Amino acid sequence: MMNIKEKVDMPELNPAEFRHAASRFTTGVTVITSLARNKEIIGMTANSFMTVSLSPPTVLVSVMNGRTLNAIEHSGKFAINVLPAAAKDISNHFAGRPVPGLTPDFAKSRGMPKLKEAIAYFDCRIEKFIQVADHTLLVAKVNDCCYKDVEDPLIFFSSQYHSLNAEI
Ligand SMILES: Cc1cc2nc3c(=O)[nH]c(=O)nc-3n(C[C@H](O)[C@H](O)[C@H](O)COP(=O)(O)O)c2cc1C
Repeated sequence: MMNIKEKVDMPELNPAEFRHAASRFTTGVTVITSLARNKEIIGMTANSFMTVSLSPPTVLVSVMNGRTLNAIEHSGKFAINVLPAAAKDISNHFAGRPVPGLTPDFAKSRGMPKLKEAIAYFDCRIEKFIQVADHTLLVAKVNDCCYKDVEDPLIFFSSQYHSLNAEI
């Protein structure tokens, strides 16, 4: 066990070590969607999603300052689309690596863009923006949600995509 004195004396944390250690925490993958001022659909891949409270239904996601955050700050609303294993391309597409020929299919749900492939969907209204470094924590109330029963989720572990059975 490390005591407090040893911790204080430790050299500065190596960013690569931190990234590698954090990548051992296994998550699902979501696409956060919203509407820009000009009504264009905006989306970004995010694995920082977590539920905060069941009652009232509250979620949190950490979003880097950028286009998606701008859209959410403008609309006060966003949606969380949980991806199936088959949607690895969609994840890359919304993570700044557009896949040529990929045109994600959206439906509208309470005015927010809902990905057809999503295995779970949360319609969210902002409660709080909390700025931390170059990210903003979005704390939001869930107004509506839906899910599909039998699906294989997309999993992110050690900076690689996996399904429940294997690396894909
Ligand atoms: C699996 C995966 C998970 C990601 N999770 C997050 C996240 O939780 N928060 C974040 O700010 N960026 C995350 N990113 C990076 C963003 O998807 C990427 O920077 C995106 O281009 C931001 O879009 P925007 O600048 O249009 O808002 C993730 C990327 C991948 C591949």
